[in-house]
Amino acid sequence: MSSIVLKNGKFVLLEKVFAGDLLIVDESIYKIGKGLKGDEEMDLEGKYVLPGLIDAHVHFREPGAGEKEDWYTGSCAAAAGGVTTVLEMPNTNPPTITKKLLDEKRKKYASKSVVDYGFHFGASTGNMDELRKIDRIASVKFYMGSTTGSLLVESDSILLDELHMLYGRDILATVHAEDERIITEQTKKLKATGRTDASAYAESRPNKAAAEAVKKIISFSLKAKNRLHICHITTQEELALLSKNRKDLQVSVEASPHHLFLTEDDFERLGSLAKTNPPLRSKKDQAALWAAVKDGTVDIIATDHAPHTLESKKRDIWAAPAGVPGLETMLPLLLNEVNKKTLTLNQVIHLTSENPSRMFGIRNKGRIKAGYDADLVVVDMDLEKKVDNEKLFTKCGWSPFAGWKLKGWPVKTFVRGRLVYDNGKIIKTKGKEVSYV
Ligand code: NCD
Ligand code: ZN
Ligand code: ZN
Ligand code: ZN
Repeated sequence: MSSIVLKNGKFVLLEKVFAGDLLIVDESIYKIGKGLKGDEEMDLEGKYVLPGLIDAHVHFREPGAGEKEDWYTGSCAAAAGGVTTVLEMPNTNPPTITKKLLDEKRKKYASKSVVDYGFHFGASTGNMDELRKIDRIASVKFYMGSTTGSLLVESDSILLDELHMLYGRDILATVHAEDERIITEQTKKLKATGRTDASAYAESRPNKAAAEAVKKIISFSLKAKNRLHICHITTQEELALLSKNRKDLQVSVEASPHHLFLTEDDFERLGSLAKTNPPLRSKKDQAALWAAVKDGTVDIIATDHAPHTLESKKRDIWAAPAGVPGLETMLPLLLNEVNKKTLTLNQVIHLTSENPSRMFGIRNKGRIKAGYDADLVVVDMDLEKKVDNEKLFTKCGWSPFAGWKLKGWPVKTFVRGRLVYDNGKIIKTKGKEVSYV
């Protein structure tokens, strides 16, 4: 047994902040109190400590596109961003749609991870038998509109059958909700006009595409009774549908930092770098999304970390891949809001650790509490610096927030009691697959 005491911290608990010490024994939080002793001590000098973030939506690129991000670089970015658990999406090449591929991901790729991890499994039109076999996953992911990779479930009857099956097995359904038919029609029209500006791409995936898909997945989930998680919502229309149906559904809702902090006004400056699915929206949608974050309609914030090389992003707006990296900037962006007093630290931990842990049923994570894994992030609320592409750990090497001056940064990250990241350096590789309640 080994023990370490973190002295003089301000520990952000669910409904309050406790100033004192925290004792870690082996991999778990043993006790929070005053004047605690252990084999080793670390003085935090009054800094705030949050539960490590659980990012329920990341894309690492192995197998298939390790040159964009591999499990080591992606998980370094996580650790540097205060994220101690990542849930990885299935749209790799090949995608995670068979038990065999999932096991290969476990053995060959995720074993390099610096932080803890879990997997979303892909639904495809022909993998019902595989869905029956799998277990130990965060969710089954449905792509209702096409995005990076080849996964798409366009058939309503298959979608509904698969949801029924998930209900039977009590597995959560996670969706990328954009309507494929609307996207295809609009894309054809807009390409024909010859436009190649970033807003043309956004127009090819209008608010209506998101709203129609959300409407469909809500009605199907009311029939199938499955638990539902809607990824990266972006529009007022989706929010209205949710408020209308929420009481009859077991549903959770996610927002991504790029939709909270960027809008269509950034297209001109960022060009294809701002291309993401769903696209950046209007200022009005952004305001509605923030209101939903604050009133609790949005349950979690997750990065949708979707790294693509700068080179591929330099292609024109139709050819460039969709997605932006986000693991290293989510927490600083949110802490900067805390410093501006538009959010509280308690709200931040609900959105980024407590709620994701509950929604995805992750065992022993997501809170600073005796018995929980000692997944912790020490933050310096006074540290002010610019997002710097040169200092990023993500292999893609760029951020849509480059140059933004933010106040409030993670400085130390612990995964199950071990310091994995310390002031700009990765110290240790500690990752292990999470387990589920
Ligand atoms: C994601 C990717 O690149 O894997 N891209 C994106 O634009 N968000 C896929 C996705 O989440 O749709
Ligand atoms: Zn609470
Ligand atoms: Zn998506
Ligand atoms: Zn995604």
